Formats: sequence, C-alpha cells, structure tokens
Amino acid sequence: MSSSQTPALTALSFASLSFFFSFFISHCNGVSQQTISTVCSQTQNDELCASLLNGDPRTASADLPLFSLLSIELAQKQAARNHETFAQLRDNTTGDPNLQKGYANCTSLYDKLEADLRRAHELSEARKYEEVIKEGPGYAPAYDCLNGVGFTPVLGEITRDMLIALETYSSVASYVAQQILLHLV
Ligand SMILES: *[C@@H]1O[C@H](CO)[C@@H](O)[C@H](O)[C@H]1NC(C)=O
Ligand SMILES: *[C@@H]1O[C@H](CO)[C@@H](O)[C@H](O)[C@H]1NC(C)=O
Repeated sequence: MSSSQTPALTALSFASLSFFFSFFISHCNGVSQQTISTVCSQTQNDELCASLLNGDPRTASADLPLFSLLSIELAQKQAARNHETFAQLRDNTTGDPNLQKGYANCTSLYDKLEADLRRAHELSEARKYEEVIKEGPGYAPAYDCLNGVGFTPVLGEITRDMLIALETYSSVASYVAQQILLHLV
C-alpha cells in the first residue's frame, strides 16, 4: 500500500464507518435456520435453543442487531418468570425458615441477574457485542439459587430453561460480533 492512501483511510471516521455498517447489516434481513443451527450448536441443548429463538415471531425477519436484542429479551422473560416463581415460593413457604431463606436468596440472585440482563440489553443497543458477552450475568446465579433450595423436577426445569436462554443470547452475541468483523475486512 502506498503511503498516499493512509490519509484517506484515516479520514474514514468512525461515524461514517458505523453508518456504513448500520446500512449494511440492516439490509441483510432475516435469520435463517442455518444461522439458528450454527448459533445453537454452541449451546448445551440445540433443540431448546432453536425452539426458543423460533418461538419469537421477530426472528424470521430480524437483522443482526435485532437478533441480538431479541435473544436477550427472551432471557429477560425467562428470568422474570423464574423470579416470580421464587418470590411466590418464598411467600408460600411458612413452616421451614431455612427453605424460605433459600427462596429469598433466589429472588435476590434473580434481581441481580435481571439487572445484568438489562445492562446486556443496553450494550446490545449500543452494538457493543463483545461487551454483551463479557458483561452478561453468567450462569452462577441460576446454579447458586438451585443449590440453595434443593432440586425438584420443576425447579430443575426452570433453571435449565434459564441456563439455555443465557447460553443462547451469549452465542447469538458472539455470532453477531463475528459477522460484523467478517464484513469489515
Ligand atoms: C403460592 O400460593 C398461591 C396462593 O395459594 C398460589 O396461587 C401459587 O400458585 C403458589 N405459587 C407457587 C409457585 O407455588
Ligand atoms: C443465602 O445467602 C446467604 C448470603 O449470600 C448465604 O450465607 C446463605 O447460606 C444462603 N442461604 C441459603 C439457604 O441458600
């Protein structure tokens, strides 16, 4: 490359670069089943991941930024459901203070998890996908909750659904980050 090209490159500001991107990625609409299968192969349960993503009517026509956002929103829905269940269990458990404490711990853990997911959603809106992956809630809160109250099939199932939803959004964010990098070069 001749050195005379450098100023032109430098002149390409971040603003115009990100404008180019918004244009580019918003014109490749629709998440294919191939993409879903690529994303879901990175999770512990391909089938649950695919049915979670396909269960959102926006997926079929989503561009990459929306794909990331909706996957986080699916995790937020599951977290809100679990939070509500553990809050009810806490309020309904009267004869066993230890178990009640465990359920109370679960509601705090899910509070934190929901706050982290809100943060991930903001980062996704800002299109900071690498940070979405790094700053997400992780899997510990869901495990710690279950460990504190003891396994039952119902709690096992909602915990599994939470973990799958977390894995799914994180895998979607990686995919989106990677697609954007691929189209940069
Ligand atoms: C808690 O109790 C209420 C009222 O009895 C009941 O409707 C609800 O299903 C219970 N919640 C759970 C999670 O067991
Ligand atoms: C609840 O959380 C506290 C503090 O995080 C911990 O010390 C305690 O063991 C937990 N209790 C249960 C039943 O999980």
